[in-house]
Amino acid sequence: MEFRQDSADVAICNVDGELFAVDNRCPHRGGPLAMGALHGKQLVCPWHAWEFDCTTGVCDFNPAVVLRRYAVRTAEDRSILVELD
Ligand code: FES
Repeated sequence: MEFRQDSADVAICNVDGELFAVDNRCPHRGGPLAMGALHGKQLVCPWHAWEFDCTTGVCDFNPAVVLRRYAVRTAEDRSILVELD
């Protein structure tokens, strides 16, 4: 799932019912991460298959590359709320 507001572009991942939000733009070449596959907690970029742990933002083969994470929660009306700062 993807969420955009102003300059924020966020990918929202559902890992076993728990939501996590990370930058939607891949740090490699800007691929749209929300369009990639989610295998467990591994989010796979659709362009060149870099993989990120969406719970931590860490890239699997280069831990120095980390996606920005956002606080996310579900409201009582089931709306998904992302905290952009
Ligand atoms: S743009 Fe994501 S792996 Fe290349």
